[in-house]
Amino acid sequence: MIRAPEDVRRAVAARLREAGASAEHGRALLVRVDRFWDDLLAPLARLYPDTDAHALAADFVDRATLAYLERGDDLHLLDYRRALTPDWLQQPGQVGYACYADRFAGTLQGLVGKVDYLSELGVTYLHLMPALKARDGDNDGGYAIADYRQIRPDLGTVEDLRHLATTLRLSGISLVMDLVLNHVAREHEWAVRARAGEERYRAYFHVFADREIPDQYEQTLPEVFPDFAPGNFTWDGELGGWVWTTFNEWQWDLNWANPQVLGEFVDIVLFLANLGVEVLRLDAIAFLWKRLGTTCQNQPEVHDLTQVLRTVARIAASGVAFKAEAIVGPRDLVPYLGVGRHVGRVSDLAYHNSLMVHVWSMLASGETRLARHALAGLPPTPPLGTWICYLRCHDDIGWAIDDRDAAEVGLSGFEHRRFLARWYAGTFPGSWADGLLFQVNEETGDMRTSGTTASLLGMAGASGSAAEQALARFRLAHAMVYGWGGIPVIWSGDELATPNDPHWAEEPGHEDDNRWAHRPRLDWDRAARRTDPGTLEGQAFESLAHLARVRASLPELHAQAPAQVVRDTDNGIFAVTRTHPSGPMVGVYNVTSDWRPFPYAVVADLRMSSPWNALGSHPVTPEADGILWLAPYAAWWIVDRPEE
Ligand code: GLC
Repeated sequence: MIRAPEDVRRAVAARLREAGASAEHGRALLVRVDRFWDDLLAPLARLYPDTDAHALAADFVDRATLAYLERGDDLHLLDYRRALTPDWLQQPGQVGYACYADRFAGTLQGLVGKVDYLSELGVTYLHLMPALKARDGDNDGGYAIADYRQIRPDLGTVEDLRHLATTLRLSGISLVMDLVLNHVAREHEWAVRARAGEERYRAYFHVFADREIPDQYEQTLPEVFPDFAPGNFTWDGELGGWVWTTFNEWQWDLNWANPQVLGEFVDIVLFLANLGVEVLRLDAIAFLWKRLGTTCQNQPEVHDLTQVLRTVARIAASGVAFKAEAIVGPRDLVPYLGVGRHVGRVSDLAYHNSLMVHVWSMLASGETRLARHALAGLPPTPPLGTWICYLRCHDDIGWAIDDRDAAEVGLSGFEHRRFLARWYAGTFPGSWADGLLFQVNEETGDMRTSGTTASLLGMAGASGSAAEQALARFRLAHAMVYGWGGIPVIWSGDELATPNDPHWAEEPGHEDDNRWAHRPRLDWDRAARRTDPGTLEGQAFESLAHLARVRASLPELHAQAPAQVVRDTDNGIFAVTRTHPSGPMVGVYNVTSDWRPFPYAVVADLRMSSPWNALGSHPVTPEADGILWLAPYAAWWIVDRPEE
């Protein structure tokens, strides 16, 4: 029987008495403290060997206890419900949507009025982009936070956020919000006090008196925004030093080697959890720990830090889930879902960046060889972890094609990445795309891509057969994403095939950052056409709503079943098999504009008695030669036909 140390239990019991908590409520907390003590202590001891880890853990338990006692009854109820359905995020009914409150609905209150629209699309998970108070002027889309306990004044108040979370929950939608951990705005109180000379706050940041150490780090550090924010350090006259600024010069990286920084975020996690946020998105989590001689990404300490925050949340607010935003190479990605000592102790969700990149790569090249090789070669997904499957988000698309994967299929990674960037910028001969280049790095030749899904797929302005093909690509690309087995997340406006915002540079502070081209304000006139099947908006919206409905009806798409890429297929076909105990499934996708063959044997081997394409609602029967022929850009989800 695991039991937390007696001094910790006594301190918890004293808090419970002070608060007059019922015996039942107190017992529920003590069970968690007992259960999670080790998960809290072990990473603290590893992270801070010079600190009294026991005292630190006891302090965090105390903070969690206070938050538990403040947590609303409805949220405690939610925690119980989640405990009874630990796979809630893995169920096929989950569909996500991501938006800025102001660009989608004006304000937080405005968003309350749009919940029905989300439900029509089948949404159960809403990633609300940064809504906490950011610095004035350019603030990286809200990712330069000036106050973690206030809402952006133009969006509403903390009470509005609480009300929104409650309204969403009553409609079966979980609120997802960012936890921006790597940096704060230069205007945040900690940075202000650091500049005012307070030693405690100076130690919250990485500050260097001269260039000696920064120059050593720079030798192995990549640049995130080489175009508008080159270098990773910024001289600050008031501070009298070089401060670490991975992103923009007004986003100051925090020093997570300082346990006081961790303590601050323990409180912030608890605050957001008690507002009713159900999933915390760990922004830029890969960058938290710095180590000389490395890229300062994906350091093992990052997983210990996540484990501490996650464990504190489990004690106070056990239903809250964590999502890692680690847009990193395929081999570094899986640990964010918990491997080794971190199994089941870190994030529940992580972005499937590789799937995203390979979907675009397959569409541009009409070739599946590289995708099959790279995706089949990924390490196994931890069974408790779930992928966020997406075609794009608010960020640019970085062409994370692994050099080794490319070489193994006879391609140059560098050339293929350049091909993709040019294809999606519409400058490669034959391209149907209409995106933009982002952060062209003259030194490394690296370039990334901005653009809405509709623009990248060539839907905007297309007519006749070009428009039909573009719509077919739209359906296909989303079918791959909805059919992988994680949570598909749609970026606002894509459901209406919204093109790039031509006026993106006109808003003050946005002019240098063309990611705003693909963060359009939702056009509600356009949205009104979603019910008209004669319009592009109607066709796009209905095809996503249809995918969500079919997905929800297929237990085969439960995220716990691993997705296995069929290695040996026609070069224009991508196929994924899934073997969930409730039944097998094969997703077959033709990424070309020709008819392509797929061997029926793959379906037969899965022993389906009555194979059925759940997307097209038709039986699946091979030609006499055992071949299934897929029409251009066809997407089939083959399952055993359910009994009528
Ligand atoms: C994440 C966000 C991105 C932001 C960066 C810095 O990657 O998605 O938009 O620029 O973090 O916060």
